[in-house]
Amino acid sequence: MTKNAVLSQRDTQVLWHPCTQMHDHENFPFIPIKSGKGVWLEDFDDNRYLDAISSWWVNLFGHSNPTINAALKNQIDTLEHVIFAGFTHETGIELAEKLVQITPTGLSRCFYADNGSAAVEVALKMSFHYWQNRGQTQKTKFINLENSYHGETLGALAVGDVALYKKIYSPLLMNVITAPSPDCYFREDGESWADYSTRQFAHLDKILEQNASEVCAVIIEPLVQCAGGMRMYDAIYLKLLRAACYKYNVHLIADEIAVGFGRTGTLFACEQAEISPDFLCLSKGLTGGYLPLSAVLTTDDIYSAFYDDYSKLTGFLHSHSYTGNALACSAALATLGIFESQNIIGENKVLAAKMAELSQRFLTHPNVAEVRQTGMILAIELVKNKTTREPYPWQERRGLQIHRYALSKGVLLRPLGNVIYFMPPYVITSGELILMFDVAWEAMIHVTTH
Ligand SMILES: Cc1ncc(COP(=O)(O)O)c(C=O)c1O
Repeated sequence: MTKNAVLSQRDTQVLWHPCTQMHDHENFPFIPIKSGKGVWLEDFDDNRYLDAISSWWVNLFGHSNPTINAALKNQIDTLEHVIFAGFTHETGIELAEKLVQITPTGLSRCFYADNGSAAVEVALKMSFHYWQNRGQTQKTKFINLENSYHGETLGALAVGDVALYKKIYSPLLMNVITAPSPDCYFREDGESWADYSTRQFAHLDKILEQNASEVCAVIIEPLVQCAGGMRMYDAIYLKLLRAACYKYNVHLIADEIAVGFGRTGTLFACEQAEISPDFLCLSKGLTGGYLPLSAVLTTDDIYSAFYDDYSKLTGFLHSHSYTGNALACSAALATLGIFESQNIIGENKVLAAKMAELSQRFLTHPNVAEVRQTGMILAIELVKNKTTREPYPWQERRGLQIHRYALSKGVLLRPLGNVIYFMPPYVITSGELILMFDVAWEAMIHVTTH
């Protein structure tokens, strides 16, 4: 038996993997990865896989990045972790200073947590608690968008709207008010993204008008609903939403966990609408894909509502053991250092243009309803019927077939249902982009003709 086979057999004896029907792997073993370098992952049988999805959208500057490696090696010999209540550390302070500096204006406070869902929980709780502290105790609800995704802990799941993850747990979840999505896949023929997004905003505006007195916050994924199928919309929607949230005295939570750090063509997606949210949730790319860490950035106004004598119980007592982990903070600082020292946003524009060019041929395929792109996120909507846009039945699992076919050709794609998408690390070369799209094309031909 090869080492790959031995490890995958041991794996199935003891492990239970995320977002996985374990039964699927009876005849399709988990792939044990020995090492990673740049966009490449390598297993124990010397097979290589191009990580076209940045290992669940976390990896920005490649696996085993020398700059981040060096920062971690330095940090580990100094301080690995310390309780973040009553104590602090220089790396955590410096990271917070940098985040305050680079995020949209008005965000002046940084609260750490240790994964994306936890950041969403923090933002929801802070918003609710703010209104309690300010005496607006009737504000207990949240507004979310249809097809949104914010994580899988119970609070985060409640403000999401992807039935696949949410439906079974519904009896456990708080009720939310769900507004129609601005998802431009559904725009009319000839209608621009901006026009459709504006038209869809009218629904949310009405919901706000009718419910604002009971609503703490609107939570949103700026520009791209990622886990909901890389569905995209125009920045005008964010502009209108920001204005409406001010008007109706409701917080705006921008969940940039997936889209932050250069993914959409700007450092943060909110920049494209020139807005500042009341809460900005960050994670994933924050540490360059190295270690779990998240941050919630918020305003002086929100911070000051919690600042009082301890006995008044106004403080935000939320905590995680690994809050502000020093190793994770050092990986994040090194990641931000790469943005500072290189023209990453400019280089991403060149890569994004190349992605647009290489994806053109997909448009001609009889089973492709749409090719859409926002910066370094490109998605291909596969359908059974191009004219009616009738989707393939989900039971047919074309996405899974594409995943398996592409793996056999050395590319890691992980379609969301019938949506093939690309979110590669920013260090991908032109040649690697060509390979990535060639394999995706081949995989698509394979599953649409078999
Ligand atoms: C927009 C968004 N919010 C929150 C999360 C949850 O992050 P985590 O998986 O780290 O809990 C995700 C994860 O995909 C996400 O895409």
